[in-house]
Amino acid sequence: MNKENIKDLDYFIDLQPKKEDFHGAVLEGLSLPQKTMSPKFFYDERGSKIFDKICDTPEYYVTRTEIALLNDIKKEIYSLVEPGSTVVEYGCGSSVKIKALLSALPGPSHYMAIDISKTHLIATAKEIASNYANISVGAICADFMEPIDWPEKAYAASLKRLAFFPGSTIGNQTPSEAAQFLTNVRHLVGDEGSFLVGVDLKKDFEIFNQAYNDLEGHTADFNLNLLHRMKNELDADIKISDFSHKAFYNEELGRVEMHLVSDTKQAIKIDSLDFSFEKGESIHTECSYKYSKKEFSELAEKSGFSLLKDWSDQKDFFGIYLMRAI
Ligand code: AVJ
Repeated sequence: MNKENIKDLDYFIDLQPKKEDFHGAVLEGLSLPQKTMSPKFFYDERGSKIFDKICDTPEYYVTRTEIALLNDIKKEIYSLVEPGSTVVEYGCGSSVKIKALLSALPGPSHYMAIDISKTHLIATAKEIASNYANISVGAICADFMEPIDWPEKAYAASLKRLAFFPGSTIGNQTPSEAAQFLTNVRHLVGDEGSFLVGVDLKKDFEIFNQAYNDLEGHTADFNLNLLHRMKNELDADIKISDFSHKAFYNEELGRVEMHLVSDTKQAIKIDSLDFSFEKGESIHTECSYKYSKKEFSELAEKSGFSLLKDWSDQKDFFGIYLMRAI
């Protein structure tokens, strides 16, 4: 990335997050007793496009419910957040959400974007810089699952720091990873900080089963995209049509699980290795944890935050929580 491209930004800090190693992750994940892959591998270019299609299905309420809710509560957010705050976004997702937040706040002064993908990060940061003349913008390339110290280059920014983590992305973390993540957020925002986070709420399991099994089949395509990646990027020998998408709500663990189930006894061949599957055996590809309000506020309190205010839509499908550092 040359300097020219980032001249609109106050600073660009590269903490040099470890490069994603798809090849290594596949060999490791397929060697486990329960074959497993991390959901972060869904999002190559094709996968990200399929995810956008999921968000448009009638069954997948998550994205549209959160955006509508965020717009509904703008006035309340305005009255609860300090003027001139610094907004720290964890992971640059859809710019629709950050724009809704920035326009809801009383004169935010600084926006700090954090993302593991340099390209994505700079694109988002520059977009915000060109849309909001009164907000200075900085970018940090980092893996936000690791603790991040407040960068010296951003010392001039307001101490009233508001972290933002929409999309129920926190659901991909186990509850103990989420507690660690919240602790990291608390460290970065400091004693005067706060945190606005979107969380998918516990509800009737049928709603989940439909949301993760849309009738147009986009969620299935999204899941199966992992096998396409193995074939295209690792030259894996796989019969993709012999795998099926499976998603269900695991009530006991409070999470939606996605799997790729082998319809036959077969093997995936990569390099000179054979990963064999019994008929019905699966690769576990995603956990999407769901929380009740009580569960999530307890988690936050263990991590140095206290719940200031929470909102949910009329059906109580999705929650947005505003938490203050304690
Ligand atoms: C982007 C992690 C919030 O868990 O609902 C959507 C991903 N997986 N459909 C979710 C996803 C299948 C999504 N998150």
